[in-house]
Amino acid sequence: MVVVIDFGSQYNQLIARRVRECHVYCQIESPSADIDTIQSLNPEGIILSGGPASIYEKNSPTIDPAIFNLGIPILGICYGMQFMIHALGGKVEKTAKREYGFAELAIKKPTGLFDRIEQTTTCWMSHGDSIVELPPGFVATASTENTDLAAVANPHQRLYGLQFHPEVHHTPKGKRMLKNFLVNICGCKQNWTMKAFAKETVSKIRESVADKKVILGLSGGVDSSVTALLIHKAIGKNLTCIFIDNGLLRLNEADRMKKLLKQHLDINIRFINAGKQFLSALAGVNDPEKKRKIIGKIFMDIFEAEAQKIEGAEFLAQGTLYPDIIESRSAFGGPTSIIKSHHNVGGLPKKMKLKLVEPLQFLFKDEVRKLGKAIGLPEELVWRQPFPGPGLAIRIIGEINQRRLSILRNVDAILLEEIKASGYYKRLWQSFAVLLPVKSVGVMGDKRTYENIIAIRAVTSKDAMTADWARLPYKILGQISNRIINEVKGVNRVVYDISSKPPSTIEWE
Ligand code: XMP
Repeated sequence: MVVVIDFGSQYNQLIARRVRECHVYCQIESPSADIDTIQSLNPEGIILSGGPASIYEKNSPTIDPAIFNLGIPILGICYGMQFMIHALGGKVEKTAKREYGFAELAIKKPTGLFDRIEQTTTCWMSHGDSIVELPPGFVATASTENTDLAAVANPHQRLYGLQFHPEVHHTPKGKRMLKNFLVNICGCKQNWTMKAFAKETVSKIRESVADKKVILGLSGGVDSSVTALLIHKAIGKNLTCIFIDNGLLRLNEADRMKKLLKQHLDINIRFINAGKQFLSALAGVNDPEKKRKIIGKIFMDIFEAEAQKIEGAEFLAQGTLYPDIIESRSAFGGPTSIIKSHHNVGGLPKKMKLKLVEPLQFLFKDEVRKLGKAIGLPEELVWRQPFPGPGLAIRIIGEINQRRLSILRNVDAILLEEIKASGYYKRLWQSFAVLLPVKSVGVMGDKRTYENIIAIRAVTSKDAMTADWARLPYKILGQISNRIINEVKGVNRVVYDISSKPPSTIEWE
């Protein structure tokens, strides 16, 4: 395995992915991790990521320089390289020529990181500081027009540095460079596959849970379904899943999920129909945060009551993904608060004194889908778009009542049908409808109407931390709009949301 030290680069997740794409397992660690912790992971290589800081800034991130004496090959990328050079006695300075974007890379010798890469290739730069003096033992291995030290190495100690970003696709030979590092320099075996990962994870779960009982809030989303299946493979009937229908699901979703889960997962599942409880507590509530709080509290109360019926439950399983961990770490500043603030069962482990099982915590969404496929989860579950815990409550802006729920459900069903028929469903991170609290004037059959407005939201994303509005073809948008206005009573206007995240968010509330 390989450890990536996270110096805060926006590309860190890409580094981790690229390593896994080379079939090598990789784990991201904070620079504050001590050397013993890193050594205990037994890494075959270490990658120091880039980051937004300058090494001369006051609180710039650092890692114990003893890391360079471990005898483990190290690759520093951008800030990671500057940190290494500085720590080993070289000099880094703010230069007049900042470099952003494409640069031509001239490689001195096709060896080491550049094994089997042609002498000139394109690379992606994004830096303000540059190396001006190398530490002893280091040589320059590639240059660009602006810097003679675009790549450096101390081959004897197996320390390498790149000023550019090999992990982004704008550096076309970057993956080859990473592979050279992992395979030729670190000697990693390329045997990490999703199947191997699944096997390893199942045995780890079996080991840590032993004969104790585990409970899991199952939503039917891909994360909780994959988590359920993995744990079930490990401990069988000692896993109990709780599915709570909060009355805020999509059209016929509760029944469909019930059938699907029963049919494909031979798992203990308790289905709780609590729609009435949620909807009566939400009556007359307009404020988004209040809605979330009410829903979260009722969910926790029901979940806790159900969980207490399961005698001897000691573990709570969650489908937390790697971006969730990163998001909450940066939001709360500590590895203890690793649960997303909007996570439905966030408060449960503490309240119920349960230990956590989070088998997906180092994976990204698309990797979870691959894992799901590898362990035999049916296609329909593998490819479901994410759906938020508070459900349609945060897509009905303003008051929630049965009539408004029914309008949104019918609209949403048409939207999904059309998106699926167009072949876009798998390509979109999410696609859904939002019911607005304003009405507009229209004309239908020569008669004036004064009805609801629907906003369509469709976004592409890798992990929901950033997202872009989807450039859906006009023909598809036109067809969706026509069908909604013609088929759903109470709607006379459809608009398309063309905002990206940030500064907007994916959900409207
Ligand atoms: P935002 O709206 O913050 O959403 O850009 C990011 C992703 O998270 C989902 N989301 C939630 N999921 N409980 C959840 O389980 C929630 O309270 C919640 N709020 C937002 C959202 O659908 C998107 O995928």
